[in-house]
Amino acid sequence: MNLSQRLETVIESQTLAMTKMAREMKEKGMDIISLSIGEPDFNTPQNICDAAYSAMNAGQTHYTPVSGTLEFRKAISDKLKNENQLDFGPNQIIVSNGAKQSLLNAVLAILNPGDEVLLPAPFWVSYPSMVTYAGGTIVPLDGLPENNYKVTAAQLESAITNKTKLIMFSSPCNPSGSVMSESELSAWVEVLERHPHVFVISDEIYEKINYSGKHISIAKYPSMKNRVAVVNGLSKGYAMTGWRIGYMAGPEDLVKACDKIQGLMTSGANSVAQAAGIEALNGKQDSVLEMKVIFETRRNLMFQKLNEIVGLKNINPDGAFYHFPDVSSFLGKSYNGNKINTSDELCLFLLEVAGVSIVAGTPFGSPNCVRLSYATSEEMIIESVERIGKALSLLN
Ligand SMILES: Cc1ncc(COP(=O)(O)O)c(C=O)c1O
Repeated sequence: MNLSQRLETVIESQTLAMTKMAREMKEKGMDIISLSIGEPDFNTPQNICDAAYSAMNAGQTHYTPVSGTLEFRKAISDKLKNENQLDFGPNQIIVSNGAKQSLLNAVLAILNPGDEVLLPAPFWVSYPSMVTYAGGTIVPLDGLPENNYKVTAAQLESAITNKTKLIMFSSPCNPSGSVMSESELSAWVEVLERHPHVFVISDEIYEKINYSGKHISIAKYPSMKNRVAVVNGLSKGYAMTGWRIGYMAGPEDLVKACDKIQGLMTSGANSVAQAAGIEALNGKQDSVLEMKVIFETRRNLMFQKLNEIVGLKNINPDGAFYHFPDVSSFLGKSYNGNKINTSDELCLFLLEVAGVSIVAGTPFGSPNCVRLSYATSEEMIIESVERIGKALSLLN
């Protein structure tokens, strides 16, 4: 079939591809541990599920407005005020089918063909395809390991041109787990104040999984107020990936533009999931804290186990649920006479020989690294990292 050229701008997510390959191998009866998955292994807290049952039984089963129910947008507005000191009214908020849709809505609403988009690397796998799908040009900025894979204000300054329309980043970051500190954000803001034509998409989906202290949004700086779209959602912090609820808060004209795009594509998000979302934000937060504590224990365990592997260079991350070690010392080595040249090939080797599925850093813009998710049990963390260590020791 003669399909559209637009499809060539979209690269299949390697995280999803690796997860699919691991699942298929498991289904064939092979002993595979998957560390490629990007979702909490916990089920959604009971109070949130109960709210969904109640909403369903009360007949909240109809279309909602495209941008989400007023009640849910009010709950999001209150959350942003109380937790993040951000002032966005319900008219400045749109609810979507996951943070992913909010991100794509915003990118499509902001970019014209040829606009440059700064992507601090490592970046989330889906950002480049979103940008190219919208006709934009990607300008990757390398976050260096010595700065915990974060981009400095000086790097930002030197990359901005008069064509730069947007900068898009996540903090806590998927894949590096890095968290932008208040002083790092302030330094970015100083640069951005000198370049008022640059808009910011701040992806804060891992807000609740931050071990370094309080989450800070770049939107809290008064000079950034009308220049930031804050994207967040319930998937990671509330273990609600399957419910598909995300949102964007930003300038009202951008929200209206996103409403137009989303109205064309999917209309309002699931009504029952939105009702559950109100309970997630307004109800007790114990489960969120409990999950974070468990993630932190697992992070430390995986850090300790990875440190036992000679040749891996790793940093203990401040947030999210991934380790992102540098594997460059293994590249160029061979297994059974076959040379392993890239982190992608190294991941395939580990899948075949160790039976562990992880993701290469290449699609995240950091080809020397690999991403391991620790959203799994302590037992699996120990077993999988030991298997990886054994397999890597076979390379020569
Ligand atoms: C950095 C980042 N942003 C956005 C998303 C999308 O989240 P959602 O499941 O709410 O669409 C993900 C999911 O993996 C993510 O890692």
